[in-house]
This record gives sequence, C-alpha cells and structure tokens, in this order.
Amino acid sequence: MESWEIENGSNIPPIKVYPDKFEGQVVVITGAGQGIGEVTSKLFASQGATVVLVDIQEDKLKCVQAEIEATGGNAVYRLCNVAAEDQATLMIDWVVATFAKIDVLVQLAALYPFIPLAEHPTADFLNVMNVNVNACFYLTRAVLPHMKKAGYGRLINTSSGTLQLPDRGLSAYVTSKAAIVGFTRCVAVEAGPGVTANIILPGLTRTEAVWKLHERPDGSHGLFETLIQKQCVKRSGRPQDIAHTICFMASPEAQFITGQIFDCGGGATFH
Ligand SMILES: NC(=O)c1ccc[n+]([C@@H]2O[C@H](COP(=O)([O-])OP(=O)(O)OC[C@H]3O[C@@H](n4cnc5c(N)ncnc54)[C@H](O)[C@@H]3O)[C@@H](O)[C@H]2O)c1
Repeated sequence: MESWEIENGSNIPPIKVYPDKFEGQVVVITGAGQGIGEVTSKLFASQGATVVLVDIQEDKLKCVQAEIEATGGNAVYRLCNVAAEDQATLMIDWVVATFAKIDVLVQLAALYPFIPLAEHPTADFLNVMNVNVNACFYLTRAVLPHMKKAGYGRLINTSSGTLQLPDRGLSAYVTSKAAIVGFTRCVAVEAGPGVTANIILPGLTRTEAVWKLHERPDGSHGLFETLIQKQCVKRSGRPQDIAHTICFMASPEAQFITGQIFDCGGGATFH
C-alpha cells in the first residue's frame, strides 16, 4: 500500500468476516460490474449470500461472477439498464420468480459527469436524474411489496459526500444525490414491519474510475490530497470501507435504524 493509503499512527486489528453471516439471503446489487458495487458484491458473497449482480456492462458482470464462484460463492448476473422502467421492474420480478424473495437491495449504479452548469445540456441533466433517481424509484417500488409480505428487507440507497462539499460541474449529480436522501426517508416511513431503508453516503473513494477521473497530467491526485486534509481519518477512502458499512446496514442487527444517512468518508463532513 502507498503511504497515504494508511493512516499514520493507526494500528487497526484485522477485519473479520463471517462466512455464514448472510447465508440463505438474496442480495441484489446494482452497479455491481465495477468499483464499490463489485467490492460490495464480493463481500456479501464471501459471507454466504446469493448475490444478484446487476449492471449494463456484461463483460464486467461475467468477470465478477466468475471471481465470486472461484472463491466458492454464489452469484448470478442480470444485464439491466436500471433507468429503463420495464427492465428494472422485470429484473426484480425475475429475481423473485427465481429465488422466491429479495432480502437486500443495494443501489449503487450511478452516473457522475462533470459539466459546467451554464452549458449543461438538458438531456444530460435528465439522463443523470433517470439513472441516479428514477431507477431508485422503479426498483424500490417493485421490491417493496415482496419485502413487506416477507416482513423483512433492507433497502440501501447511495448518496454522496458531494452533497455537503459540492464541486464545480456536479449540479446534476449533487441534485440527484440530494433527492436520494429525501426519497429514502419517505421509503422508511412507508416500509412497514421488518423493512428498513437507509442511505450510504460515501466520501471520495478510491475506485479505479474515480482515481482515473481525478488524475492530473503529472500523475498527481489533487482532489484526494485536498479531501484527506479535510478528513479526520487521514487516508484515502477505499471501496472496502463502503462495502463493510453496507454489510452492517444490511444486517439483522441494524433493525432499529431506518431513514438514516451513513456517512462513510473519514469524517470530512458532519450531519
Ligand atoms: N467513488 C466515489 O468516490 C464515490 C463517492 C461518493 C458516492 N459514490 C457513489 O457510489 C456509487 C458507486 O460508485 P463507484 O465509484 O463504484 O462508481 P463506478 O462508476 O465505478 O460504478 C458504477 C457502476 O454503475 C453501472 N451503471 C451505470 N449506469 C447504469 C445503468 N443505467 N444501469 C445499470 N448499471 C449502471 C456502471 O456500468 C458501473 O459499473 C455511485 O452511486 C456513486 O455515485 C462514489
């Protein structure tokens, strides 16, 4: 690991995972082809869940599925554009028809284009809202009756630290991530016994795509350096940090927590 990936002076004990923690549970994860979704899918699978990997990138889905199976886990994949209402609804119907239930739905699929507001095409704004917000509505509406009937469910939607620390060019993205907070709180109110809805709010996290996006021509990563200055925890965020937080949110132990924001960003922002 590079020096700025470890917090100087920290002495963290090994992280433990429990191979049967999610045994018998069906976990659907959107955006599972790469980044946080990929790592989260693998963490659930390593703890016994049957994971349904959802994304629009079939090659990446196949790789993630193969890697999970190679380590003895269970995963299937569904190619699905979650922003298309019929595809989103059919995907949920297929999972319920195949596995008889959905215990956990984690929605990580998103777009994050940087476009200055004064020149922002309407079509791009609406596209971000379709993928980041409308999809969340379609999938939640489709899955909720099944979770209500089962008396159990964990709905986990994704916001962003940019809600508190917005950046130039992110008007559509930040708007969509604010909407997710309001929407999820409404879901929590209507969810019913045994079903919770919460928001994961990642800080800047070192996924391959985000790392490349913020790389300067000289190879430095100014945004990461700036954020680390603001964080209480002085290292870059890892997808594993988000994945472990999501697994806690998805656990039966989290049954008394709903409608809440889980800010996993090293303390760069407070709520
Ligand atoms: N990485 C960060 O620094 C960071 C910070 C804050 C919030 N987040 C949020 O965390 C989530 C995951 O981020 P990431 O960094 O892993 O992103 P990523 O770009 O690496 O992965 C996103 C995945 O979503 C998929 N996707 C996009 N549109 C889709 C669609 N219409 N239907 C189905 N799948 C689609 C992509 O193919 C991709 O595999 C996103 O919601 C993002 O907004 C990330």
